Amino acid sequence: MKLNTKHRHSGTRRRPITRPIAAAFLGATLLTGCQQTNQFLFIGDLASAYNREIWWMSVWAIVLSIIIFVGVSYALFYTVNKFREDRHDAPPAQFHGNNRLEVILVAVPVVIVFGLSILTVRTMAILNPTPAQATKIDVLGKQFWWNFAYPETTSDAGGVVTNGNEIIMPTKQPVALTITSGDVIHGFWAPNIGGQRAAMPAVKKTWQIDTTRAGVYQGNCSQLCGGSHANMRYKVVALDQDRYNTTLAAMKAYRAPEPAPGSAEARGYALFMQGKASTQAVACAACHRVQGTPAAGAAGPDLSFFGTRRTLGAGMWEAMTADRWAEPKAKEHLHEWIKHSPTVKPGSLMPTYDGSEYLSKGQKLKGGVLTDTEIDDISAYLRSLKLPEEADYWSGTPNYGANASGGTQ
Ligand code: CUA
Repeated sequence: MKLNTKHRHSGTRRRPITRPIAAAFLGATLLTGCQQTNQFLFIGDLASAYNREIWWMSVWAIVLSIIIFVGVSYALFYTVNKFREDRHDAPPAQFHGNNRLEVILVAVPVVIVFGLSILTVRTMAILNPTPAQATKIDVLGKQFWWNFAYPETTSDAGGVVTNGNEIIMPTKQPVALTITSGDVIHGFWAPNIGGQRAAMPAVKKTWQIDTTRAGVYQGNCSQLCGGSHANMRYKVVALDQDRYNTTLAAMKAYRAPEPAPGSAEARGYALFMQGKASTQAVACAACHRVQGTPAAGAAGPDLSFFGTRRTLGAGMWEAMTADRWAEPKAKEHLHEWIKHSPTVKPGSLMPTYDGSEYLSKGQKLKGGVLTDTEIDDISAYLRSLKLPEEADYWSGTPNYGANASGGTQ
């Protein structure tokens, strides 16, 4: 029960490229040792059909390449050896105009390329179509966060069920993602689930994913998209069918709990909905949606289930204890985030609430002011936005996507 509150600051430290690769192999080793720890980030994760197809295509391509390599090497050494100068006085016979040889020399590469093409086309034909009965999830990438919507599930309180930065999907069945972007080009990439897909503005790409193993997997934006590209993470939470159904049903029925009059949550609710005009503090509801309340903003991530979520700032922080954002260190991060998110996450479009200046799409703006107590009230309100216990999709789900050692539950 350790807390992972690793703070990622883009620009201050670059992650060495060897780390994810090393982590992948280390993760794979640990996983085979039946140990649930650390990050298992692996493009060869055969629990996903996408990775399986790519894996076997690669194996065939590599086997073919080895055969070709051995054949060509043999021919080369044979020729060099046979026609060594010290064994022949006369120049070798010329074969210019030998039609049979030329046909063979063209035909063999054509056959090889054709064979490799068949492998590729076959894999594409398997992976590209999305079956009609697939679970549909809409993916929206924005600077610098993700929204995941379930277009087939309209909540009882109105509006489509949506979750920010944590995508919940069923295992052992195809999931059809429709991926797009609200601004620049992003990349949807959860290595364990499959390859990458670009999230492009005004373009909707459909893509099928699946996995046979329940668990939490790490997702990243894979397309350089601005100052906080590295802080544009998400979690893929794959749940077995029963749990998935329970969770989605609870999300559908969810209405944000009404805070008790006079409580910190109630004060936070008021600030969330109205802001504070006397100090120019903008209402959170202007940009965020909370299901079952008047808050219907779409500029920022959906916060309906914030209290159940374990990531903050699009995976910038993780709170992996059962207390989540009530754990002292995590609570501190949440406070910092509300207070001045553009300071802790470059490029964040949230206003500051400590009166400091910040850049928003190249424009210098000045945030309103909330006191630390008021920020804590908003934090209390956010933490109260919880799904019922049986729909807590994190609880008991093996976490293969933790960002640091000890990041398990
Ligand atoms: Cu979005 Cu990189």
